[in-house]
Amino acid sequence: MNIAIIGYGKMGREIEKICRERDHDIVCIIDVGDEDKFNSDEFKSAQVAIEFSSPESALENYRRAFAADVPVVSGTTGWLDNIDEVKEACEEEGKTFFYASNFSLGVNILFAVNSYLAKIMNNFPEYNVHIDETHHIHKLDAPSGTAITLAEGIMDSIEQKKQWKLNEETTDDDLRINSYREKEVPGIHTVKYESEVDEIEITHNAKSRKGFALGAVLAAEFTANKKGFLGMKDLLPF
Ligand SMILES: NC(=O)c1ccc[n+]([C@@H]2O[C@H](COP(=O)([O-])OP(=O)(O)OC[C@H]3O[C@@H](n4cnc5c(N)ncnc54)[C@H](O)[C@@H]3O)[C@@H](O)[C@H]2O)c1
Repeated sequence: MNIAIIGYGKMGREIEKICRERDHDIVCIIDVGDEDKFNSDEFKSAQVAIEFSSPESALENYRRAFAADVPVVSGTTGWLDNIDEVKEACEEEGKTFFYASNFSLGVNILFAVNSYLAKIMNNFPEYNVHIDETHHIHKLDAPSGTAITLAEGIMDSIEQKKQWKLNEETTDDDLRINSYREKEVPGIHTVKYESEVDEIEITHNAKSRKGFALGAVLAAEFTANKKGFLGMKDLLPF
């Protein structure tokens, strides 16, 4: 497959490696300052573009890729306030966009277990729940997109939790998220239920970025011939 890479940082480079291992052709690599390349024949020859840049640049990158009629798979976090514009482009203009706050298979299994556990725990108000997330010190956004997805999965079922709050004093109605930034940690997420007598905890600990990059390339292979707004629920069989 012909693949373009937008954002050539830690994730972009890892994605390039996986693409080459899977015999894909990297037809164009775009980083900051390379905006002209969106109009190039090389970029337009891509069957899909994989975008991992920054919260501030992601939306403009999607607009440029859509203008060149190239489907986008993106994992950039921290831009979701603008999600309606992207959904509209898919629904009304026939564009294709695949988004995941976390492309790792293990994290998506954690999401499924998290939703199931929350349904059970709604029957046991003596347990209070919170989320801990730890990432490397270079991460620009907090909480992580993954922690927000976990929080949404909890709030869908735990009736008492009305909104999440980051590193703040919380009341019983708030779901507390603690964000920690340490060294080069690729990503650790824990959901913990605590009562007076015990604790129940589920954790995902990424050993490297490889799982995220592989998931993004699998999503690109899946997306190439599809239309619309897609996500991990479309890709994974659960
Ligand atoms: N969804 C997932 O599974 C997942 C996994 C890891 C990281 N992420 C997210 O992916 C994003 C990138 O992470 P990273 O670790 O590669 O960061 P990084 O800082 O190493 O790389 C980002 C790259 O984007 C480039 N960039 C900045 N503005 C640009 C622009 N306008 N056009 C093109 N490129 C531009 C930067 O120069 C840099 O090379 C972050 O938002 C991070 O939270 C998501």
